[in-house]
Amino acid sequence: MMLVRLIYASTKTEHWNDYELKQLIDQSTERNRKECITGVLIFNRKYFLQCIEGKRSKVSELYARILHDKRHKNVQLLTLEEIDEREMERWSMCYVPDSQITQEMVLKYSDTTDFDPYDMTAKGALAFLRRSCELLN
Ligand SMILES: Cc1cc2nc3c(=O)[nH]c(=O)nc-3n(C[C@H](O)[C@H](O)[C@H](O)COP(=O)(O)O)c2cc1C
Repeated sequence: MMLVRLIYASTKTEHWNDYELKQLIDQSTERNRKECITGVLIFNRKYFLQCIEGKRSKVSELYARILHDKRHKNVQLLTLEEIDEREMERWSMCYVPDSQITQEMVLKYSDTTDFDPYDMTAKGALAFLRRSCELLN
C-alpha cells in the first residue's frame, strides 16, 4: 500500500448554510471512514483548506471528485506527497469551524491575521490543520 497526503485550498462558490455544511461533513466522514481516508477540513465561510491522507488510489479518486464539485472553485494544490505515517489518524474528517480559527493561530502560520490558505506554505498549512484539530478534540 502506498500512503499519500494531499492538501489543497479552495474558495466557496455559493452560500453554505449550517444544514448543508453538516450534511457535507456527515457524508464525508462516513465515506472517508469506509475508504480509510483521514483528514481535516477548515472553512472560514470564504475559503476551504483540507488535508486528506490515505491510499494513493483512494486519495486520487476523492481529489478528482472534489475538483469537479461545483460548490467551490479555484482549487489549488498545496502538496501531494508520499508519507510513512499519517498525521490525522484520529479523524476520518475533523471539521474546524470558523469560530475556532483564532487570529493568534492564523498569525502563527501566516504573515497576517487573516485566514487565507492560498498564502500558506504546505508545511505551515499541515501544522495549522493539525494544531486546530488538537485544540478541538
Ligand atoms: C470543500 C469540500 C470538501 C469535501 N471533502 C470530502 C471528503 O473528505 N470526502 C468525501 O467523500 N467527499 C468530500 N466532498 C464531497 C465530494 O466533492 C463529492 O461530492 C462526494 O464525495 C460525493 O461524490 P459522488 O456523488 O461522485 O459519489 C467535499 C466537497 C467539498 C466542496
